[in-house]
Order: sequence, then structure tokens, then C-alpha cells
Amino acid sequence: MMDLKNIACELDTSELHLRRIALSDAEAMFAMLSDAESMKYWSSPPVSDVSDALEILQKDIESDARGDSICWAVTLRDEDEMIGKCILFQFSPANRRAEIGFILNRDYWRRGLMHQALEAVIHFAFNTLKLHRIEADVDPDNAGSLGILDKLGFEREGLFRDRWQLNDGWVDSVMLGLLNRD
Ligand SMILES: CC(C)(COP(=O)(O)OP(=O)(O)OC[C@H]1O[C@@H](n2cnc3c(N)ncnc32)[C@H](O)[C@@H]1OP(=O)(O)O)[C@@H](O)C(=O)NCCC(=O)NCCS
Repeated sequence: MMDLKNIACELDTSELHLRRIALSDAEAMFAMLSDAESMKYWSSPPVSDVSDALEILQKDIESDARGDSICWAVTLRDEDEMIGKCILFQFSPANRRAEIGFILNRDYWRRGLMHQALEAVIHFAFNTLKLHRIEADVDPDNAGSLGILDKLGFEREGLFRDRWQLNDGWVDSVMLGLLNRD
């Protein structure tokens, strides 16, 4: 597979621009990750301080710099402010697969924006990175995430019991997959 560190990965859709995430996205990241409703089904609790958002951002940037992930800031076209994040991570080059993750600032929900962003990321993953398979791990109660992945053609492939230990106890995962040939 290609060298993810240096790959050109800017993407455009009719309403959005996707670019690599940067330290200057800290405030926007905080706005997104501090919202309890957006974070309800996330694998970590909402952040309460901008320094926590900055720490998460730094980890994303370091992971991108190692070539372990590609983390995009989603912005409206012609604006630089991050309104969402998409990530490809857990790459397995030998098997040409990766996992996908995404979150959108709640002010922008239900306008078809994340659908647009994910279509662009999936197109890039299959056509530029030549991946064979993209996976997603979703809380069974996360209707929004399951809905958007269904609409994008992901198959629900199985229920993994007690996959995450969170504050409220053990949480199951619905595992979904999309193949290049789909
Ligand atoms: C999931 C999320 C990214 C959806 O973003 P969005 O831009 O609002 O989604 P879109 O407007 O592009 O919706 C596309 C389709 O997804 C489905 N969908 C989106 N939100 C939904 C919801 N709350 N309930 C049910 N279906 C939903 C619908 O099929 C929708 O198509 P439609 O509007 O024609 O009915 C957003 O709700 C979010 O950030 N949630 C919190 C973070 C999260 O859970 N991330 C996933 C972790 S695995």
C-alpha cells in the first residue's frame, strides 16, 4: 500500500472540503467532542476542557505522521473551520483493509453533509489507496451511524458482545463492512 504519511488526500464534494487535521483545529474539535449528545455512543466520554480536545488532536496528528491513519478535518467549501472529522485507521496493508470513523458538529446534522464526506473518503479509500475492505464498529443503539452506513451500502456482518468497557458497563458492537466490489 502507499505511504500514507505523504499522500495527497485533500478531497472536495459539492458542499465540503476535506483536508488533513491540524493543531489549529483545537477549538472546533473541543466544540464537537464536548457535546454530550454527539458523544453518546463514542468510545470515550465527552471532553470537558479544550486541553483534552487538544490532546486527542495531537494523538491524531501523531498517528497520521507515523502513517497509521488519515484523519481529515471536514470544512464547508471556502471556509477553513472544521465542522467534522473523518478518519481511516487500523490499516492492515497485507489485507488492504481499514476502519472508518466519523463525527459531525451537531449544528450541521441531517443536511446530508456527512454522507457527502464519507462518499468522498470511501471513493479515495477504494480508488487511491486501493483498499479491498472498509470496516465500521458501531454501538447497536447508534441509529444515526447505522443509518448513514446502511445508506452508503455497508453490510451489517455481526454483533460482537461486550466489546467495549465504558463508564456505564459493557457495550456491544455492530460490525459492518463494505467491499470494493460492493
Ligand atoms: C452519524 C452522523 C455523523 C450523521 O451525520 P449527518 O450529516 O447528520 O448525516 P446525513 O445528514 O448525511 O444523513 C445521511 C443518512 O444517514 C441516516 N441518518 C443520519 N442521522 C440519522 C439519525 N439521527 N437517525 C437515523 N438515521 C440517520 C439517514 O439515512 C440519512 O439519510 P436521510 O437524511 O436521507 O434520511 C452524526 O449524527 C454524528 O456526528 N453523530 C455522532 C457521532 C457518531 O456517532 N459517530 C459515529 C461513531 S461509529
